[in-house]
Amino acid sequence: MAPAEVVKVATTPFEGQKPGTSGLRKPVPVFKGEHYAANFVQSTLSCISDAERKAGNHTLVVGGDGRYFMQEAVQMIVRMCAANGLQKVIVGQNGIFSTPAVSCVIRKRSAAGGIILTASHNPGGPNGDFGIKYNISNGGPAPEGVTNAIFNYTKTIKEYLICPDITVDLASLGTQTFEVAGQPQPFVVEIVDSVDDYLQMCRDIFDFATIKALLATIKIRADAMSGVMGPYVRRVLCQELGASADAAVRCDPKDDFGGHHPDPNLTYAADLVNAMKSGDYELGVAFDGDGDRNMILGRGGFFVTPSDSVAVIAANCDCIPYFHRSGGAKGFARSMPTGGALDRVAAGLGVPMFEVPTGWKFFGNLMDAGKLSICGEESFGTGSDHIREKDGFWAVMSWLSIMAARKASVEEIVHAHWAKYGRNFFTRYDYENVDAAPANQMMANVEQLITGADFVGKEFSHGEKTYKVAKADNFMYTDPIDGSVSTKQGLRIMFEDGSRVIFRLSGTGSVGATIRLYVDSYETDAAKQKLDAQVMLKPLVEIALKLSQLRELTGRDQPTVIT
Ligand code: G6P
Ligand code: ZN
Repeated sequence: MAPAEVVKVATTPFEGQKPGTSGLRKPVPVFKGEHYAANFVQSTLSCISDAERKAGNHTLVVGGDGRYFMQEAVQMIVRMCAANGLQKVIVGQNGIFSTPAVSCVIRKRSAAGGIILTASHNPGGPNGDFGIKYNISNGGPAPEGVTNAIFNYTKTIKEYLICPDITVDLASLGTQTFEVAGQPQPFVVEIVDSVDDYLQMCRDIFDFATIKALLATIKIRADAMSGVMGPYVRRVLCQELGASADAAVRCDPKDDFGGHHPDPNLTYAADLVNAMKSGDYELGVAFDGDGDRNMILGRGGFFVTPSDSVAVIAANCDCIPYFHRSGGAKGFARSMPTGGALDRVAAGLGVPMFEVPTGWKFFGNLMDAGKLSICGEESFGTGSDHIREKDGFWAVMSWLSIMAARKASVEEIVHAHWAKYGRNFFTRYDYENVDAAPANQMMANVEQLITGADFVGKEFSHGEKTYKVAKADNFMYTDPIDGSVSTKQGLRIMFEDGSRVIFRLSGTGSVGATIRLYVDSYETDAAKQKLDAQVMLKPLVEIALKLSQLRELTGRDQPTVIT
């Protein structure tokens, strides 16, 4: 066959190709526009330096969550990698890779990085969202320095390089080799099983025999929400660990996630919550579209908040061989809006604790520096330094390890945790798809109010409760490793009793604005610890809504989602 020709395609910049919290996310019709995706991919490839390419064996890992437009995007990326002088691309079979699996494969194969095709928990299908996200050689999301460079490139792009004649057979495992005109070396595409490397990694972290023995005695229900996790659930949980086949629910990846919102929370995974109410299952878990998020439920639908989940895993990490082997955890971290339960564990165990802005990328430097082992976010993300993405399946395996070691149910484990460390009540109110103008106005008003000279010391009351402001700011973070500074990461009001109210605009939406209101409040009184979070936090929620004028400005009486 004649060498594949490298074609230079003339193009002009698109506005707004700025990667958000987690890559560039836009509605599918936008991505399908001529040159739109190619511009962004070229900008990404152009920002990988020669040194990075060399250190990464001139290799990239590519795959995604199976959503609509993904296969086309994979073919296009492969063609552009060939034209841009990459020597090898490792692709999951049929383009399928969970986000944690990409992170695992980048690290295992010492690749220069990876391109993940996902819009995570956003709906899919022809009118849903699509996304392209770049991960660097440590396996984690590109830090802001890199995403800013990519964004800058998109603003002046004039052409991109592509080999239109290359087409990969995404279904066949093994290598496919192509000659590229003008390039001395062949271009290799390796199609790998989507689960193999990830499964091997799980074997290294967890004790499969123990988990298998547990799963012989209890029932689990794992809802993949028609996202990418189906093959992982079936292979690891069912085939390897012996969970019964009917434990795997919605485990066939669909390009529109069955028309649902593939987000594992109490609203969008309500089916799981209802199924758990039957009392038949000891553990219920759900994953988002790309498999990095998770939700953990106990029998009867007992909900473990993500903020509690990471704290429980941290407190019990001696049950997991990976941490046991290395003499325990080096450090813990959470994102700023995440409830403070993990802080209590860190204090109790004498382990260093870090608070970072929202976004998994902020954990990467700490992990690379050997300062952080376990971390989590309120946004249903839990993980450790085994990779550089949050890892939904890892969280499930961690819970199974703890249940097996402690010989206790999810609810018993959580109750024992609260009894020992106290309980941080936590809730998040989401107002999705609000008009951007009033949302920005509200944030500006709140910032002005809380940074005003007389705000500290002010008292706010609702019913019988009164809270006095101890501190308030727009959260700013200085990375302790590289000194980089991230400003405007969320408006927070801290009260004297340790309670916090936080306002933040989502960085993952694709249209309008999503306002998030987070409330965190600590309770040591054992008599109150089992009360309902919504009841306990009501006064603070009302205070927050009133001082922000959220209802008045947005016209929203109720949040779209409460977690
Ligand atoms: C993604 C990131 C998380 C982050 C979340 C925040 O899932 O991977 O690390 O917590 O986005 O989403 P938001 O919509 O609140 O910006
Ligand atoms: Zn995700």
